[in-house]
Amino acid sequence: MPLSRRQVLTQIAALSALPALPRVASAASPRRLTLAPATQQIAPATYPATDLWCVNGSMPGETLRLKQGARLIAEVENRLPQATSLHWHGIRIENAMDGVPGVTQDPIQPNETFTYDFALPDAGSYWYHSHAQSVEQVERGLQGVLIVEEPDTPDVDQDLPLVIDDLRVTSDAAVDAGFNAPHDLSHAGRMGNVLLCNGTMVADHPVKSGDRLRLRLINSANARLFTLGLQGLEGWVMAYDGMPLATPEPLPDQLVLAPAQRIDLFVDVTAAAGEEAFLGQFERDGGYELARFPVSAGTRTRRAAPDALPPNPDFPIDLKSARSVDLITEGGAMAWLQNATFRGEDLSGEDLAKLGQFWSFNGSAGRPIEPLVTARLGETIRIRMVNDTQFPHAMHLHGMHFAEVLPDDTLGPLRDTLLMLRGETREIAFQAHNPGDWLFHCHMLSHHAAGMGTWVRVTA
Ligand code: C2O
Ligand code: CU
Ligand code: CU
Repeated sequence: MPLSRRQVLTQIAALSALPALPRVASAASPRRLTLAPATQQIAPATYPATDLWCVNGSMPGETLRLKQGARLIAEVENRLPQATSLHWHGIRIENAMDGVPGVTQDPIQPNETFTYDFALPDAGSYWYHSHAQSVEQVERGLQGVLIVEEPDTPDVDQDLPLVIDDLRVTSDAAVDAGFNAPHDLSHAGRMGNVLLCNGTMVADHPVKSGDRLRLRLINSANARLFTLGLQGLEGWVMAYDGMPLATPEPLPDQLVLAPAQRIDLFVDVTAAAGEEAFLGQFERDGGYELARFPVSAGTRTRRAAPDALPPNPDFPIDLKSARSVDLITEGGAMAWLQNATFRGEDLSGEDLAKLGQFWSFNGSAGRPIEPLVTARLGETIRIRMVNDTQFPHAMHLHGMHFAEVLPDDTLGPLRDTLLMLRGETREIAFQAHNPGDWLFHCHMLSHHAAGMGTWVRVTA
């Protein structure tokens, strides 16, 4: 595989003092999640530690692991200088617990506590993050892993969440505070200048040759698309965005992971003791290691291909009876908006730009007063998404998973976030099985802040 390390990586390899990995919570409920400033050494040791906003003292925050069907009770205490909230990304949650200020709850003010209490209907890999000023708060560190375990633990030797992120820091390793820079809002979004895995530049996980690993890849970056590859590890894609595939797919050479997407892999360590095994990010002229798996000798012989993970509850999509709506995306650099509606007012592109608004859905910048669609409970909705911009977008629906409607009218895998490249038209469908008001937005957080958000209503 053509991944080569750059100079900087060789320097980082010499680092030994890696920050502690996020702790795994004990089974006891309720859990207390304290959102507060904390420092963490994310850059090489020759740089100062970075001031972050953390959940229980680290970034990513405390990893929450619960069994499918359990309730998560999380007392979220805000010790930050800004109002906040937590969103439980990908959970088919009760609407009031979805964590969207102004839609499902009031923001949690500084020194206040809000208790989230909800059921976990689906097993899989999920994550949580701030949904208030997210372009700033997720970047500063308010993000963590939520694992919902299958009733029977699958046969793997290690289960490793790998939170892949990037962060834009200044030359003294402080988080760059230009969160709403117009250039980022109107182009590809805020990109970092350091790549992180589990809050450090290269995560290290010792393995044995022949081990089977479950890798839970989670892209928590503001806007970066990761193109990932593995060396010394071979296996299968088991799930996308938490939802198991009916048949595991052999691992392709490259995996594209858009912001907020997850991919669960089962991989076998095919590297022998001392050989290289790593997860890397491809770049035009080489690549970066994100996680390294130092290999020692093992005793296992290669196992058979895994069975599929058990399916989650099914809410069938009925294309025959579906109602269809269009979502036309416009704006951004090189296709600037002429005008759009913003908070009920019709504004010129120039005036919108002054307000930091650069994108529109169906002629509306920012969350419109009326939903994109009002669905009856149980109805199937198709959304044909036209990307009439020069940039890719990672479209995310809250509260329900959807499937892509492929050109031959078959359905792709269930997902909660779909990447659409510039100029593409892509169609999704979902059963409106979860009552409430649900955001539908681009998960490139700069784009969401700059206009790319709408919502759907499901009436009971
Ligand atoms: Cu992961 Cu609306 O968010
Ligand atoms: Cu979400
Ligand atoms: Cu976008």
